[in-house]
Amino acid sequence: MTDSALAVVILAAGEGSRMKSSLAKVLHPIAGVPMIGHVLSTAAALHPQHTIAVLRHQRDSVAAVVAELTDGVVIVDQDDVPGTGRAVELALAALDGFEGDVVVVSGDVPLLDAGTLAALVADHRANARAASVLSAIVDDPTGYGRIVRTADRFTRIVEDSDATDDERAIAEINSGAYVFSAGLLRTALAQVTTKNAQGEKYVTDVLEVLAAGHTIDAHTVSFPWLVAGINDRAQLAEVSARLNAMIVRGHQVNGVTIDDPATTWIDRAVTIEPDARILPGTFLQGATSIAANAVVGPGTTLRDCEIGAGATLNRVDATLAVIDAGATVGPFSYLRAGTVLGPNGKIGAFVETKNATIGAGSKVPHLSYIGDTTVGEQSNIGAGTITANYDGVDKHQTIVGSHVRTGSHNVFVAPVTIHDGAYTAAGTVVRKDVPAGSLGMTVAPQRNNEGWVEEHRPGTDAADAAKRAPKE
Ligand code: UD1
Ligand code: CA
Repeated sequence: MTDSALAVVILAAGEGSRMKSSLAKVLHPIAGVPMIGHVLSTAAALHPQHTIAVLRHQRDSVAAVVAELTDGVVIVDQDDVPGTGRAVELALAALDGFEGDVVVVSGDVPLLDAGTLAALVADHRANARAASVLSAIVDDPTGYGRIVRTADRFTRIVEDSDATDDERAIAEINSGAYVFSAGLLRTALAQVTTKNAQGEKYVTDVLEVLAAGHTIDAHTVSFPWLVAGINDRAQLAEVSARLNAMIVRGHQVNGVTIDDPATTWIDRAVTIEPDARILPGTFLQGATSIAANAVVGPGTTLRDCEIGAGATLNRVDATLAVIDAGATVGPFSYLRAGTVLGPNGKIGAFVETKNATIGAGSKVPHLSYIGDTTVGEQSNIGAGTITANYDGVDKHQTIVGSHVRTGSHNVFVAPVTIHDGAYTAAGTVVRKDVPAGSLGMTVAPQRNNEGWVEEHRPGTDAADAAKRAPKE
């Protein structure tokens, strides 16, 4: 790219009514990033002198996301005059005195990449044009503006709602991305009216104005999916699937085994080291990272998790969990925020954890809830253990030392500590600390009421079976 001045204008003021959503269209997530976040990244990669986002519908919530994702993007508010042309006009007013090239992109075209836009800008400059439009030839042009050519020369863009039947048959569509020379754009916009089917000021009409007296052209992308716009939920799903396929492929090329790309969904920010393996039906979300040789899935969802080398997770739902190298989780485990499992540790079947640090080699193998707990190293928590961590008002800590073995079906009534090397008996309700090396138990002596069944449940199968049983 040459070093003449560049400004990028992102159009995101529209209502997005076809989404039928209470969430602004450009905030719908794609690969874990709000739609407009993809466009902001592309804009930033062009290193423009100015970036402007034009907002109106749900202005404050969109502006907050723009500010969270980027620095230095100027927000311009669109007024009551509707249309993409008005949006660009107001952006230009905010760029007062700017005389370079203006790239205009839509907030609802998230897959358009910086390389394609840079090529458009280079082409525009090399041919000293007044305006260049990025176009694509698509199978179904419905809804898009069409590129009208007269004797092969690009002359204007006609919107779907204003097009004749002949024009609707044109397969070359306007992507909604353009480069204009700022001064000419300013003059041309002043001549654009709202006399059209939608009563809007269209930026597309600028092309026809400039065609009289200036060089304009359309630059066709080779891959039409690059410029797929999102107006409804069906298009949202198509674009999401396309981006996911590219992300999955990127990891595969990088040395990650992904058995079933069609059922594996990976957010843009996820990192995976080579020789990890991702099994079908797995969702890797947010800032999740997976180290080499880990095996994740099938049927696993990880949000913002850190998975160590060689760990295995099978049918796990986890949020903000850290799983160290060689640890195993699942099947059917629910790891809530603040779960930390040490190296070679285990969280097994039907176990729920929250705010729990489980040390190296320690295991919670079966049917347990472990919350607000710290477990040392090489300890084993018996099947069916529940930490009673909540008294209805406050949460309390359970501390389990190292080399502890607790029996099945225990309740740890927090706050409580089971010290190093202690045991607890099956069925213990641990209300008091268990000193190091002790056996904790709350064994109420078992009483057998002899003959109770025959007396109180006469005639039942149980009573008959009891009658037939050999007497001891
Ligand atoms: C627009 C183009 C169409 C093109 C298509 C590509 C116009 C008139 N039409 O149609 O030729 O094929 O994009 O995807 O430009 N916006 C504003 N202010 C407004 C109206 C819209 O900022 O007053 C923003 C929207 O938020 C959106 C973008 O501009 O991000 C495009 O608007 P949209 O209504 O989706 O236009 P399309 O009908 O898709
Ligand atoms: Ca659109």
